[in-house]
Amino acid sequence: MKLLVLNGPNLNMLGLREPSVYGVETYADLCDKIRAHAKARGAEVELYQSNHEGDLVDRIQAAYGDADGIVINPGAYTHTSIALLDAVKAVSIPTVEVHISDVTKREAFRQVSYIRQACVKTVMGHGTDGYLEAIDFLIETLA
Ligand code: DQA
Repeated sequence: MKLLVLNGPNLNMLGLREPSVYGVETYADLCDKIRAHAKARGAEVELYQSNHEGDLVDRIQAAYGDADGIVINPGAYTHTSIALLDAVKAVSIPTVEVHISDVTKREAFRQVSYIRQACVKTVMGHGTDGYLEAIDFLIETLA
């Protein structure tokens, strides 16, 4: 089973970025943790981060016929991007939306998620462990 883990804008700044909201783990720490978890669960994983909406759309399109599942934290594009929603709908790959913070307890502008309607599950507010939960969910549901 091959999973693609996508991270959107500013997630490369983990560790530096608002540690009281997003924690002190760096993006490199997160990648190591995801790789170790996927390996232990016997899944192949590919990681990609971009600050650019079109790059994320390209990566989702490229997953067609390649990845069995997608885990995506679209960052701020969660709240603005119909293009990411359409890309996930276009490829029809089971996708889990992840947020490190609990966006439901934050600003009003974070209450909208365009991508959610194309996702099979949303995990939020569990810190970076949420990515591992999303991976486990995909492994269990795709098996
Ligand atoms: C986030 C929440 C978003 O509102 C924010 O723009 C992010 C990170 C999260 O992981 O909690 O960049 O997706």
